[in-house]
Amino acid sequence: MSRIMIEHGLPWTWDERRVRRCIGHRESAVLVARDRRRLAGFAIMEYLDVDAHLNLLAVRPGYRLHGVGRQLLDWLESSARTAGIFLVRLEVRAGNDAAVRFYRRLGYREAGKRKGYYSGREDALIMTHDLSVQSTSNVWDWPRAD
Ligand SMILES: CC(C)(COP(=O)(O)OP(=O)(O)OC[C@H]1O[C@@H](n2cnc3c(N)ncnc32)[C@H](O)[C@@H]1OP(=O)(O)O)[C@@H](O)C(=O)NCCC(=O)NCCS
Repeated sequence: MSRIMIEHGLPWTWDERRVRRCIGHRESAVLVARDRRRLAGFAIMEYLDVDAHLNLLAVRPGYRLHGVGRQLLDWLESSARTAGIFLVRLEVRAGNDAAVRFYRRLGYREAGKRKGYYSGREDALIMTHDLSVQSTSNVWDWPRAD
């Protein structure tokens, strides 16, 4: 999924061995969303001392726009909070407008750029999410007096 949906047009770096290493790594979570036995999506997060790094996230085309990506990320962010981590970082291909819109919708904001991050062929946008700030979609608005 990473090769086809994320790393297309770039050298394949997230191969089976690398993902398997993450599965066995104490400080990483490899999460899958399943529709019965079929894999609908997956995500990999690495938990560091003060922040967490989202390494990969993808949802199969037939399952997109049904909340699968949000559920995967919510679960990983909730684990970060439990571990006392309140900042998530990620890099996304600068040309991946759809993913940037998705992350923005989930509260992520652009925090910089890494030139040539993807094998010297494409820049990365750095996006971060401050987990200490309550998501506005979960906050009930108190009626204003004016
Ligand atoms: C980005 C991706 C993971 C989103 O997964 P998804 O399951 O379709 O997303 P969700 O259905 O959970 O969407 C959550 C919110 O983001 C919005 N959103 C999702 N895709 C969007 C898009 N392409 N454009 C604008 N908004 C989008 C949804 O409308 C939803 O908002 P809402 O709650 O207000 O309705 C999926 O499109 C994908 O796998 N893309 C290819 C791989 C990729 O680019 N991965 C990210 C880079 S590592």
